[in-house]
Amino acid sequence: MKFINVSILTSVLAMLAVAKGGADDAAIASPDSAVVKLTADTFGSFIKENPLVLAEFFAPWCGHCKSLGPKFSAAADKLVEKDIKLAQIDCTQERDLCADYGIRGYPTLKVFRGTTNSSDYLGQREEESIISYMTKQSLPSVSAIEDSADLLDTFAELSEPVILQVLPPDFKPAANETFYSLADELRNEFSFVSTSNPEYVEKYTSKKSTPAYVVFRPGEKTEDASLFKGDTIDKATLESFIGVETKPLFGEISGATFQSYMESKLPLAYFFWDDESQKEAVSDAIIKLAKKFRGEINFVGLEAKKYGMHAKNLNMKEEFPLFVIHDLEGNFKYGISQDKALNYADIPKFVEEFKAGKALPIVKSEPIPEVQDEAVYHLVGYEHDKVVQQKKDVLVEYYAPWCGHCKRLAPTYEELAALYKNDSDANEKVVIAKIDHTANDVSGIEITGYPTIFLYPADGSKPISYEGQRSLEALANFIQEKGSTGVDALKIRDAKAAEPEAEESTETNNGAHDEL
Ligand SMILES: *[C@@H]1O[C@H](CO)[C@@H](O)[C@H](O)[C@H]1NC(C)=O
Ligand SMILES: *[C@@H]1O[C@H](CO)[C@@H](O)[C@H](O)[C@H]1NC(C)=O
Ligand SMILES: *[C@@H]1O[C@H](CO)[C@@H](O)[C@H](O)[C@H]1NC(C)=O
Repeated sequence: MKFINVSILTSVLAMLAVAKGGADDAAIASPDSAVVKLTADTFGSFIKENPLVLAEFFAPWCGHCKSLGPKFSAAADKLVEKDIKLAQIDCTQERDLCADYGIRGYPTLKVFRGTTNSSDYLGQREEESIISYMTKQSLPSVSAIEDSADLLDTFAELSEPVILQVLPPDFKPAANETFYSLADELRNEFSFVSTSNPEYVEKYTSKKSTPAYVVFRPGEKTEDASLFKGDTIDKATLESFIGVETKPLFGEISGATFQSYMESKLPLAYFFWDDESQKEAVSDAIIKLAKKFRGEINFVGLEAKKYGMHAKNLNMKEEFPLFVIHDLEGNFKYGISQDKALNYADIPKFVEEFKAGKALPIVKSEPIPEVQDEAVYHLVGYEHDKVVQQKKDVLVEYYAPWCGHCKRLAPTYEELAALYKNDSDANEKVVIAKIDHTANDVSGIEITGYPTIFLYPADGSKPISYEGQRSLEALANFIQEKGSTGVDALKIRDAKAAEPEAEESTETNNGAHDEL
């Protein structure tokens, strides 16, 4: 989902996480420490000989590398006894090796498990964090626990969601294999536990051969744990269940969790608060809604003092508290009106309206132009869907005012538009439009650069992205071939040129080809 301005929130969140100090420390580990210095020659064999390695790709001059240096060495010394190795690769000397691993910033930490495939280190850059993260990596991804007291302990105080597999006596091994392989992939995010404890079998399973899956969330009561109700246990189904149920009912959004909410693609309902008491005041009501709409809408709180500017991305004013739902699929934003202060009692009503399809999105848009006096139709957010859905072939250029390629395309585009506009038949069948994408919300298409050009065929079929040359001929041919009205603008042009009174030939901007 590339519409969403992930960068603003994540960069704000990243700024807060920047580590301080350490400028006097050395980035390169001392030869006395357990840190192993690797080169292109030694790297491959070292990685294969050691079951678990944390490798730091660094540059000696880099400040964050200097501050990490002593912590990395200290962690290395303590992890040696667990057969976990810490290694360093100096990217100023091993350029090719670092390039192979796509290293773009220093330091970059990667985890290797006996093969040259790696996964990113996701822990903090502190001694204790490195030790606990790597120790966890060394443990099996699933803990098999049978004892009732141990199980209780496991669910007593969670720091991360736990996914429990409950195996009845005649369980099918394939389900268990699926669970283990998912656990291997998701071990950095969640804990995985498997049990055949009879009390749990009694409580959670309903069939002798079907395992049960239960998600326990930190900070919530065990009675609120979510039970997987399906019969088919395949990887995709289980993974999507875990994706939904590991999210708190009413969580705080942060840099670490933002991406997973985006990936879930479910509408995301935000409550922005600038005083903790506001959050407490709505908490019960929102949890109730979250239970009702589990798997349909995610609910999060956002602290306005830190991330208030994100309100703008959601077409809301930075006035708090506020409540807004972002429909990620369509990129529509539905907010409770900010004309007056937010009344908490309106939230449940608003969510119900949204679910019923009765809420109106807040659309960012320029005003609808009073006259359309140019050949190119000046499209705006309010009108976008109506215009592209009419029974004409509609070509739309999505541009930004600052974009150089868009400016270069403009004369060709105007000429193209005039071709259709000047012919009464073509004018009935084809519309050439442009829209300033920085000032107008649009939905249903993916825009990753400017200009982006889409054709909306008259027959209502899916919009088609234009990837060809930005010349009048290529664009006109595209409309004729991919549109559904079959208008051949070049033929119209040539016919006009052949008429004796036509003096000027319409020379075209041939061969101009700009990359996005
Ligand atoms: C390494 O990754 C590649 C590509 O994802 C995969 O095909 C291969 O099986 C992996 N190798 C190992 C040993 O995990
Ligand atoms: C489940 O599968 C894992 C991985 O193959 C295996 O180690 C474990 O013994 C299995 N559990 C049971 C109870 O059979
Ligand atoms: C369209 O018509 C206008 C006025 O009738 C004329 O100035 C212009 O050159 C025509 N453009 C094309 C591309 O035929």
